[in-house]
Amino acid sequence: KLADRRGMKRGRLKLAAITTAQYVAPSILGEFARRYPAIDLSLELSNFDNVLGRLASSEDDLYIIGHVPDRLDDVAIYPFAPNPLVVMAPRNHPLVGKRHISINRLAKEYFLMREPGSGTREATLRVFATHQLRPRIRMELGSNEAIKQAVISGLGIAVMSLHSLSAEGTQGPIALLDVVDFPISRQWHIVHPKRKVLSLIAQTFLDFAIQDEARVRAHVDEMLATFERGLAGD
Ligand code: PGA
Repeated sequence: KLADRRGMKRGRLKLAAITTAQYVAPSILGEFARRYPAIDLSLELSNFDNVLGRLASSEDDLYIIGHVPDRLDDVAIYPFAPNPLVVMAPRNHPLVGKRHISINRLAKEYFLMREPGSGTREATLRVFATHQLRPRIRMELGSNEAIKQAVISGLGIAVMSLHSLSAEGTQGPIALLDVVDFPISRQWHIVHPKRKVLSLIAQTFLDFAIQDEARVRAHVDEMLATFERGLAGD
């Protein structure tokens, strides 16, 4: 609508997101920016704890988080695309191609783990804890990309968002392991404090992102299907 477009001429959209949104948010923002070229965009990427901190002090227009904690009051929540956590190993790892690997077996391997405050780390520890196990952490790293490089270098294996393989896919130097209890199925959520009245720009972006969800979902489904076809030996 013309009136909407007029209100959308200039301004700023400030997003804060968990780190794995780095693999998806730019493609949504790219299309958004083509439609509304004069809007300044910023995307602050940090771990789950830090994004929750920014949400509490309402520093940004919208937030993308990896899961919704039990006690999160007065927040408007829009479920967004799936964000499965998978087990990654270097392509030449002996467990690659094995079926139904147990957590007990996995617990014998060295792990590369994100820093405290990371939602990925929390979810990983929780799965191990349900089996009264703890992963053997060889190294802590503050970035998903650094973990991928460390996996490729043979420093260990890691649990990470499938989205972190969106550029190279599941058939590149990093392989997925078929582990019981994995993928951990999670979903992103776009949230904002309820009391915050969204700017026209923020509301337009939110609608836009929700419309774009099917595309993101299709990409994740395709990656999982490729992995499963690989396991079946097709
Ligand atoms: P993290 O969150 O950056 O805090 O690990 C990522 C995710 O939950 O997908």
